[in-house]
Amino acid sequence: MPLDPADWITATKDALKTTALGPRAEHRGRVEEIGDGVAMISGLRDVRLDEVLRFAGGQTGFARVLDPGLIGCVLLDAAMDVQAGDAVFGTGEVVGVPVGEALLGRVVDPLGRPLDGKGPVEAEAHLPIERPAPSIIERDLVTQPVQTGIVVVDTLFALGRGQRELIVGDHSTGKTTLAIDAMIAQAHSDMICIYVAVGQKTSSVRRAIDALQSQGNFARCIVVVAGASEAPGLQWIAPYAGMTMAEYFRDKGQHALIVIDDLSKHAATHREIALLTRQSPGREAYPGDVFYIHARLLERAAKLSKERGGGSLTALPIAETDSGNLSAYIPTNLISITDGQIVLDAALFHQGQKPAVDVGLSVSRVGGKTQAPVLRRAAGTLRLDYAQFLELEVFTRFGGMPDGRVRDQLTRGARIRETLRQSQHAPLRLADEVALMLAVQAGLLDPLPLAAVAQFRAKLPALLDRDAPEFPSVLAKTGELDDTTHKDLMDVLARFVTSLADGTAPANP
Ligand SMILES: Nc1ncnc2c1ncn2[C@@H]1O[C@H](COP(=O)(O)OP(=O)(O)OP(=O)(O)O)[C@@H](O)[C@H]1O
Ligand SMILES: [Mg+2]
Repeated sequence: MPLDPADWITATKDALKTTALGPRAEHRGRVEEIGDGVAMISGLRDVRLDEVLRFAGGQTGFARVLDPGLIGCVLLDAAMDVQAGDAVFGTGEVVGVPVGEALLGRVVDPLGRPLDGKGPVEAEAHLPIERPAPSIIERDLVTQPVQTGIVVVDTLFALGRGQRELIVGDHSTGKTTLAIDAMIAQAHSDMICIYVAVGQKTSSVRRAIDALQSQGNFARCIVVVAGASEAPGLQWIAPYAGMTMAEYFRDKGQHALIVIDDLSKHAATHREIALLTRQSPGREAYPGDVFYIHARLLERAAKLSKERGGGSLTALPIAETDSGNLSAYIPTNLISITDGQIVLDAALFHQGQKPAVDVGLSVSRVGGKTQAPVLRRAAGTLRLDYAQFLELEVFTRFGGMPDGRVRDQLTRGARIRETLRQSQHAPLRLADEVALMLAVQAGLLDPLPLAAVAQFRAKLPALLDRDAPEFPSVLAKTGELDDTTHKDLMDVLARFVTSLADGTAPANP
């Protein structure tokens, strides 16, 4: 329908009434140098740290370094067309990301722009990527467990909601897999999972997303990706952007888990930006603030007090080591910032002991207190037995003839090691873990050959579903194991062990 000229005139007059005419102040600067994703800008006054700057061609960046007369701007877009001499404008706004329920089930970049082709994200709000961590008064003690479904973690290094636990290990030792498995295990819990990939290979990110989509509850996950080939600015803001998205749920009284894969790559990006903006290099050429940028990021993970809604944000940052060197700069920094570390060992990984957790070097500094009491009782002296076994094993390798007691310890230790193995993307329920620990600690598995122990472990969940169907749900609900259930369960386990020993176990219990 053609527009009536009278309507058009009225609309134009109305628009003119509300439009401010006349001179307008504009913060305008000039690009002095540009290269490798960083621009040095002169002539811009009144710029804040992290303020978004807009180039004449529409590209954006943010101010990272505010030296007198010269601003170091890190680009958020590929900037092929930006040249020295171009105009730059201050926007007055700091870098922010969309937050809200609409992000659930989505794959986005660190600015919340969709990468999954499912259309724009309907944000509930935009919040800055840098936000203050909750204060001491606003926090509560970490008391609720995070069930990761990974036997070695849940039994020996239990995590609590609000904890920060570092996953650290050499290249390709199963770090990402461990973190993704912990996210998959939340498919039946009330936790929301956020996976932040910083500088990762596209194939690795694709595998992680596929695993979450096929095995986990992707509708309660958010994936934030800043690939290795993206602008350094995007990689730099990714962990902070993920934290802001996760805090939305924490502040609503919900529970969230954030995995940051990985902070070594983030530190390398930070170093690159610092060197390009000519900040003085320190140890290993990292600038002096590399500890601070990670500390202020991870401090945002917290368990909130009842007055603040009681929500929690658990963080699993990942760091890569070189030849197992935990005392390198970034791993030591992160170990001292977090509440414990899970160390993955390349030698164990290559021997086929997966997850390749080094039991001697790993520790959980707060989560142990939150471990489900029934699992703690079932695991009993597992840690001690296993540590003694590892020592004895080295000792007896030189050919000594072990006496009876030592032989028993070696037998038990080898079975413990077998039960701590777990294939990827196969999280166990609390009930499976309790039954596994009860069986190994009661010595039921001692007479079995190791191959049969592996079978026992693999078939246990199906066995419980068939022969003790109410046990998993009762345990999940009450967290208690009463005497009759305990006795019935031990009978079921003993019968299964006998059938495995004499080869009559059904292929699929
Ligand atoms: N528990 C497991 N069982 C079987 N295979 C596993 C297990 N954990 C990891 N893997 C396999 O080991 C390989 C390396 O794992 P992953 O990519 O998680 O290691 P990473 O330490 O994150 O590597 P990168 O240093 O490249 O990031 C993958 O092919 C993965 O499938
Ligand atoms: Mg990885």
